[in-house]
This record gives sequence, structure tokens and C-alpha cells, in this order.
Amino acid sequence: MPSQPYNSLRPRHVAIIMDGNGRWAQKRKRPRTFGHQAGVKATRMVVENCARRGIDVLTLFAFSSENWQRPSQEVNRLMDLFMRALDKEVDVLDNNNIQLHFIGDHTALSNELQCQMETVQQRTACNDGLKLIIAMNYGGRWDIVEASRNMARDIQLGRLQPAQIDESIMSRYCQLGDFADLDLIIRTGGEKRVSNFLLWQLAYSELFFTDTLWPDFDETDLDTALNSYAKRQRRYGCTGSQAIANNA
Ligand code: IPE
Ligand code: IPE
Ligand code: MG
Repeated sequence: MPSQPYNSLRPRHVAIIMDGNGRWAQKRKRPRTFGHQAGVKATRMVVENCARRGIDVLTLFAFSSENWQRPSQEVNRLMDLFMRALDKEVDVLDNNNIQLHFIGDHTALSNELQCQMETVQQRTACNDGLKLIIAMNYGGRWDIVEASRNMARDIQLGRLQPAQIDESIMSRYCQLGDFADLDLIIRTGGEKRVSNFLLWQLAYSELFFTDTLWPDFDETDLDTALNSYAKRQRRYGCTGSQAIANNA
């Protein structure tokens, strides 16, 4: 259980499953990649508005470990868009005091993209505004397997004792271990599933689903999600009155 069973009305950490680009394009009789291109605008909007609303951490699901199964033309276009967006937006992000991080298995990405990600991360490392985390070739199960492997390695090296392993150690070995607990997950595009996103981290996150397709997601939709979060009572297994007493 997180140390602070508290809903401070505004989430500290928001994560978004940005879904629906393909259907958005198909509705317009355009190729799916047109929808990915259109989704960049919505991404820019949420980053800007989360920074403005004082949210500490924003994690965006950009590409899942399962998305490699898509047609290679679509995968290549996504990688290309990602590369270009990083290149184009880095100045704006830096000027807005945003600190960029990446999570996921990056070994499968091109060297060029890995270098670009490293450059952007270093360039924004001293910023202390919104922490923007991009999940790229990320899978929740991969994250848990990777954490387990790293714990086993540290046990072998004598840096960790099996008896020391508890939920907080496990969290630290998982991706996002250094960031605030995940308060709210938004999924656009109408599906009511988590699609292998942040499985360990979402244990007590609030979930918000909307039918809005990602390229149509705007400031009003973001506020609807944040307002829904503000009305929730996070009980963490307690009764409602205990939760009120805990928050007092
Ligand atoms: C989300 O939109 C973007 C990625 C998964 C990279 P989709 O491409 O999944 O759009 P739909 O779900 O097919 O409409
Ligand atoms: C989840 O969307 C991944 C991202 C948004 C990056 P998908 O479109 O891949 O999820 P499924 O296939 O509908 O579960
Ligand atoms: Mg989808």
C-alpha cells in the first residue's frame, strides 16, 4: 500500500494510454499512419496542459512491446514520427522546464533513435518542472520480469538479500521506481483494458476510460478526466469513514 492513502484532488502522477489513432484515420478514409500523425497534436496539448496544471509526472504510452506485430510500414512510420517529434519538440520542452525520461526496452530500437532519446534526456535533465515519461517498447510483464532478473543479479552479487525483498524494493526495481505513485490512468479510444501497461504500478491507480479517439482528445476531455479523479474516494481497502479520517 502506498505510504499516503490520500486523494489530494489533483493527481500527482497521470498516465495515458493514447489509443484510437488508427480508427480516427479510418473514419476519414485515410491510412492509419495519418491518425498517428494527427495524434502528435493531442500529445503536445496534454503535455502543455499537465505542466500548466501543476501535475508532477505525466507518463505516456507511445509504443507497446506488442505493437511490433503491426505491419512493418506502420511500425516504421511510428518510429519515424517519434524521432521527428523528439527533434522538433525538444526546444519547446526544454524552454518549458520539462524533464524527459524514457521507460521500456530500448535495445530493440534503432541506434539513431536510442541516441536521440539519450540526447533529449540529457538536455532536459536539469529542468525541474513536469517530468514527462515516454513508454517506448514498454510492456508491464517485461517490466516485472526485468525487475526480477535485476533482483536475482543483485542477490548473486551479494548486494541484496532475498529476505529484504518487499513491495517497496520491488517497486524500486520496476520502471518508474523513482517517481511518485501512479494516481490516474486515462485510456482514450473506448477500450476498457490496460493492454500490458504498468501492471505493477497500477495496483491502486484510478482508471478513467473515454470513447474519444486520441487525435480528438482536447483540453476539455483532460479536465473531464481530472474532475472525475477529484471526485473519487481512494479507500485502499479501508472503509469510507476510515478514508476520510486518514485524509483529515
Ligand atoms: C494508438 O492508436 C497508437 C499506438 C498503439 C501506437 P492505435 O494505432 O492503436 O489506434 P486504433 O486502436 O487502431 O484505433
Ligand atoms: C495500447 O494500445 C498501446 C499504446 C497506446 C501505445 P493498443 O492499440 O496496442 O492496444 P490493444 O491492442 O487494443 O489492446
Ligand atoms: Mg489501439
